[in-house]
Amino acid sequence: MHNIGILGAGLIGASWASFFAAKGLKVRIYDVNSEVKENALQTANDNLQRLVNLKMLTSKAAKTGQQNLQTVDSMKALLTDMDYVQESVVEDYAIKADVYREFEQYASLSTILASSSSGLLMTRMQSVMKHPARALIAHPFNPPHLIPLVELVPGEQTASSIIDTVKTFFVQLGKHPVVLNKEVQGHIANRLAAAIWRESLALLDEEVASVEDIDAALCQGPGLRWAMMGQHLIYELGGGEGGYQKFFDTIGASFEEYWKDMQDWTTIPEAVKQKAVAGTQAYLEQKNRSEWTAWRDQKLAQIQQVLSEE
Ligand SMILES: NC(=O)c1ccc[n+]([C@@H]2O[C@H](COP(=O)([O-])OP(=O)(O)OC[C@H]3O[C@@H](n4cnc5c(N)ncnc54)[C@H](O)[C@@H]3O)[C@@H](O)[C@H]2O)c1
Repeated sequence: MHNIGILGAGLIGASWASFFAAKGLKVRIYDVNSEVKENALQTANDNLQRLVNLKMLTSKAAKTGQQNLQTVDSMKALLTDMDYVQESVVEDYAIKADVYREFEQYASLSTILASSSSGLLMTRMQSVMKHPARALIAHPFNPPHLIPLVELVPGEQTASSIIDTVKTFFVQLGKHPVVLNKEVQGHIANRLAAAIWRESLALLDEEVASVEDIDAALCQGPGLRWAMMGQHLIYELGGGEGGYQKFFDTIGASFEEYWKDMQDWTTIPEAVKQKAVAGTQAYLEQKNRSEWTAWRDQKLAQIQQVLSEE
């Protein structure tokens, strides 16, 4: 697959464009909002230069990437002779349905449609399509040009061969795809994130600690291990010589007590949102958002450099 279409060029679409261009592929960018589309082109060009600064890309590859990026003015122009489309439009079933219907007007039958959706169900999204077998979810983590994870999720009508093709494609591009056997809202990573986020908000609401200390308890502790090990392997080692079974036998019951004491909100109380927004202002006194983003991207590159060493 050489021709890549970016359909929806906001935060995630622009980062995807950077990723595919950095890999030497031809990238066409389309968004209904032409200002967003032109900004995405600029962001993608800037990201390629940042990848050079982070020593993740050669200057030559960045130049080729910049030459391979272009914006187009219509879905028709996006989809002519197109191999693979990464759809990153607004997270809304009705909007995605309109976009998928329009996609089918112009795309050839061999064009793959991959959605960046953070948690919608592909079965529902592809239900408006006449040829739904080529649609799947390929969910990135922000920013996709720096984070290797991509979650591949089939809908009920997705062909298994399409999942295999896209998995191989991403492996060749250096990503780390995981394939879900069946769809669930939020896939894997956002369900895990949702559990952590709810408890982060609840701890704030119960005034157990400040925003900064709740965040520090995560990133100065478990977060360091999470860059290289998931919870199952961590607790396998946490059981010592007895392994995971010993962990269940000795510590499992304590966790059951924590769960009984923890929040089970399914909506976020308004007052909690306000406390969280107010609590994060302290961060913005240290650095503005673009400074935090640049700092994050540099650390992400450095962590991956360390992890690539055996
Ligand atoms: N923000 C994140 O951290 C994140 C992470 C992973 C995945 N995602 C997913 O990526 C998708 C996009 O999220 P985002 O944060 O980039 O949103 P965004 O609001 O920044 O961008 C969405 C873009 O879609 C465009 N759009 C709307 N209707 C369109 C149409 N008919 N044709 C073409 N473009 C259209 C909008 O103009 C907008 O620029 C969502 O499905 C979201 O769940 C987001």
